[in-house]
Amino acid sequence: MWINKQWTSHRRWPFLLIALALILALSLGATGALAQGGLGVNGPCYPLVLPATAKDTMSIVWWDAPEIESGNVRYGTDQSLSDASVVAAGQTRSDGDNYTAWTATLTGLETGATYYYQVGQGNSWSAVHSFTVANDSETDFDFLYFGDAQYNEYTTKDSDYAAWGQLVNTAVAANPQAELAVLGGDMVQQGQQAASWQLFLSNATAFAGLPVLTVPGNHESNAVNGKPAMYLDLFTLPDNGPAGFEEEFYSIDRGDCHIQFLSSNILSNEQLLKGGMTAEDFTVIKNWIAADLAASDATWKIVVMHHPAYAVTSDSVSAAVLEQWVPLFEEAQVDLVLCGHQHVYMRTKALHGVTYVMGVSGAKYYAPAEVNFDEVQIGYVSNYQLISTNSGSLTMTAYNSQGTEIDRVTLAPKDRTVIPVWHDTPGDLNADDVVDEADVEVLLTAIRCNAAYADDYDINNDGAVDIRDAQLLALQVAGGTGND
Ligand SMILES: [Fe+2]
Repeated sequence: MWINKQWTSHRRWPFLLIALALILALSLGATGALAQGGLGVNGPCYPLVLPATAKDTMSIVWWDAPEIESGNVRYGTDQSLSDASVVAAGQTRSDGDNYTAWTATLTGLETGATYYYQVGQGNSWSAVHSFTVANDSETDFDFLYFGDAQYNEYTTKDSDYAAWGQLVNTAVAANPQAELAVLGGDMVQQGQQAASWQLFLSNATAFAGLPVLTVPGNHESNAVNGKPAMYLDLFTLPDNGPAGFEEEFYSIDRGDCHIQFLSSNILSNEQLLKGGMTAEDFTVIKNWIAADLAASDATWKIVVMHHPAYAVTSDSVSAAVLEQWVPLFEEAQVDLVLCGHQHVYMRTKALHGVTYVMGVSGAKYYAPAEVNFDEVQIGYVSNYQLISTNSGSLTMTAYNSQGTEIDRVTLAPKDRTVIPVWHDTPGDLNADDVVDEADVEVLLTAIRCNAAYADDYDINNDGAVDIRDAQLLALQVAGGTGND
């Protein structure tokens, strides 16, 4: 017995050493070349322009060297900045020997005007960048959407993010009329590591000029309390969301669009389990989503969130989105929902009037899968979307990284004075008006994920949603009686 134990522990050593070497190699790789000897930030860099709810207000965020104790934005309508106004910035994050992060808010901007700006302090200033404030009087409004930028590897490489930055630059150059960029979350691999953000920011240079808004994904939302802590420090976002969840949830109005931004990751319960929210907060958030959508009389109601409601691969957060938020979208007659997370391009049919588009702008791909609710699904292609709106139509066009069109759909305005009557069929759990294998899959996902009880899912009406319900629904799909 003793001999055997001794032999076993002796034999383990080489494996332990190999494992340790691997962990060391991976953790060195994960921080990347940029992290060698600190992050190498020695002046103002990585400026991003982020619009507020109010059209005449923009925040500018950036990084500076670690020892810097103040920051400013100099800005004006003259490129020389000879008549520049100066706004003092606040520090949002200080990270040891690596960097400091800054934010400043410019108010009272003229809509439709182009502003030039630089960031910094003392004798240390960034290059001059420019942005244009969205026009107030026009109903035409175009914006660009970018799904997950994040990469698959433990050793996320600068060259991968350079390819993503190139895709963004291609999109922006091809669409100079776009007034806003929207990022659908999972921008980085490690949301609480500055080196991950540096890889992203150093290639997100287009957003020094094109205003950008974002939602957090699961990769941003892994701080100790389950919040997207570093993300919330680095970005300054509109603050009209539900109490305690400002910036994680918010909405803006531009052109004839009302765009609502949601942190779907809260439905993973990460914040609940780690103390970042209470059970009651889910109700506060649902009420805010419904009230915010109902309060808008914009022609186009658009939702942006990281997780899909209609999942290509089964996902517990998607099951929760489908159960808890999709009824709110349908009630408000939302037109378009933009999401990501599952790394394929997918556009659904209009499901109870709502079209769902899943994008991926990085080069981490999941395999496409047979689902019954999609109109178009394309695997293994990095892509971006142009959403082009006026009061008469909304056109969503998807392009690959070369700017070649891969999909297009045009939506007509809804008459929201008419309350739609859906042909609710028992068992049609994904609301596409047919009962088939996809509904069985929705039910199985709900069972696997221990989703909360729902009448629709309780096929045999015995007060529980379990495998017997899935069995009955599968029988019904196969042409059996489906009676318990
Ligand atoms: Fe994700």
